[in-house]
Amino acid sequence: MKKTVQLYEGKAKKVYATEDENLCIVSYKDDATAFNGLKKGTIEGKGAVNNVVSNHLMRMLEQNGIPTHLVEELNDRETLVKKVSIVPLEVIIRNIAAGSLSKRLGLPEGEKLKKTVLEYCYKDDDLGDPLVNEYHIAALGIADDEELATIAAYSFKINDLLSAYLKDAGIELIDYKIEFGRTADGTIILADEISPDTCRFWDSKTGKKLDKDRFRRDLGGVEDAYDEIRKRLLGK
Ligand code: TMP
Repeated sequence: MKKTVQLYEGKAKKVYATEDENLCIVSYKDDATAFNGLKKGTIEGKGAVNNVVSNHLMRMLEQNGIPTHLVEELNDRETLVKKVSIVPLEVIIRNIAAGSLSKRLGLPEGEKLKKTVLEYCYKDDDLGDPLVNEYHIAALGIADDEELATIAAYSFKINDLLSAYLKDAGIELIDYKIEFGRTADGTIILADEISPDTCRFWDSKTGKKLDKDRFRRDLGGVEDAYDEIRKRLLGK
């Protein structure tokens, strides 16, 4: 399958049309941004890590009953995916307090939450991706109740599957952000990516951060952390 026209360029990926109207090619970039694009940089090799890590995790999820956009990894940076229209929500699942939750509610980072937390943010850069709830989502017509129930159920199942899978690789899944899309027939499937850009991964033993927080917070060793995740999950 060959790329035809570029459909979209985001902060971390480009999306191309193909000769098949139901398929797209995603191309992962090394560009990194944080704080809604205010901080910009490059993480050498990030695109290749995120491509293979995301595909590896989506393959595992697919085998366990989660429908995903993954069709075929084409090369180290590019993947053939099902074409979807993205539901403009960032779905965040949190097992351990960190990041914006710690800030908002005054919880120390690393504190285990008594209950898994699900949050929705409305994907709109101009508004700074504001936190919304089920009522806002219905009021704005972002998704209907049935779609949202499907999204929430998949999100919790993904949490169980991913947490267990990563635990075996010595990685604690602190929190993550996922996105869903609608295929041409309206089916909800997991889209976008699952990578060190979109998850907090801490080493189970030492608590060392192995994700994009190293870039966001200028902690150094960013490339090594991404590489470590690739090695632990894919063994290369
Ligand atoms: P937060 O604590 O900053 O709200 O982030 C929660 C999770 O979502 C964390 O794993 C990082 C991920 N995330 C994204 O993937 N994209 C974003 O734009 C933000 C702000 C967070």
